[in-house]
Amino acid sequence: MIEELAPEPIANARRELLREPAPVHIWLWRTDIEAFPADVLSASERAAAARFRFPRDRTRAQSSRAGLRRLLGGYLEAPPESLVFAVGAEGKPRLASAGAVSFNLSHSGIYAAAVVSRDRKVGIDLERVRPDAAGRDIAARFFSSEERAWLEATPGVEAFFRLWTAKEAVLKAMGTGLSTPLNALSVRPGEDAPPWNLRELDLAPGYAAAVAFDGPPAEPQILSA
Ligand SMILES: CC(C)(COP(=O)(O)OP(=O)(O)OC[C@H]1O[C@@H](n2cnc3c(N)ncnc32)[C@H](O)[C@@H]1OP(=O)(O)O)[C@@H](O)C(=O)NCCC(=O)NCCS
Repeated sequence: MIEELAPEPIANARRELLREPAPVHIWLWRTDIEAFPADVLSASERAAAARFRFPRDRTRAQSSRAGLRRLLGGYLEAPPESLVFAVGAEGKPRLASAGAVSFNLSHSGIYAAAVVSRDRKVGIDLERVRPDAAGRDIAARFFSSEERAWLEATPGVEAFFRLWTAKEAVLKAMGTGLSTPLNALSVRPGEDAPPWNLRELDLAPGYAAAVAFDGPPAEPQILSA
């Protein structure tokens, strides 16, 4: 396996991020192994990880945040531990230092995924496909009537997670969390949701993922495999 979030690909991505229109970079890393030292975490990140009861969940929380710090530190040419995050009113993290680099993070199963861009609002969602979670009652609660119609017409358990991640990616780009009524927004996997560009991502077998971003169209680049 190649080294995850190795410095050189991140340095290349940092230079590439200056292009116009702003590229949309996607990164994936494992969170079930302690690949990155957890000593880069802030006190509050450590405290958040420590609240998990099971070591497996603690490792995942630490690895997703330590990986994010390593990634963004590479883009900013700053030590991972020096990064300071601010949190929007609805909980969306951003870099506290004024700057053009935007990002969003998602984690599910044994992976974390991040989108990194410049001068764009971005959102990413990754979900492990779980046959037991794709129930009609959940669909009725979270999806609009158009979305439910798409779901009825699309066979396979993945359809639920394609729709879920597409919708969640847009909500996470908006950053408004649960304050946006879920049926006020209707998406279709594989189609844009103006003003949002919306793309499905094939990141790992058994996972669904999507990214949403504003601004001019761009094809997201998956930079880690
Ligand atoms: C936090 C939230 C935005 C995403 O939760 P999730 O899908 O369970 O988790 P993900 O792993 O994809 O994302 C979590 C990460 O998103 C980021 N995040 C937190 N709040 C956010 C917000 N309001 N907007 C965007 N990103 C946010 C954080 O980095 C967080 O990870 P961290 O706590 O380790 O830093 C979610 O709780 C939420 O508010 N969802 C709204 C709508 C909803 O219920 N949709 C369901 C059906 S579509």
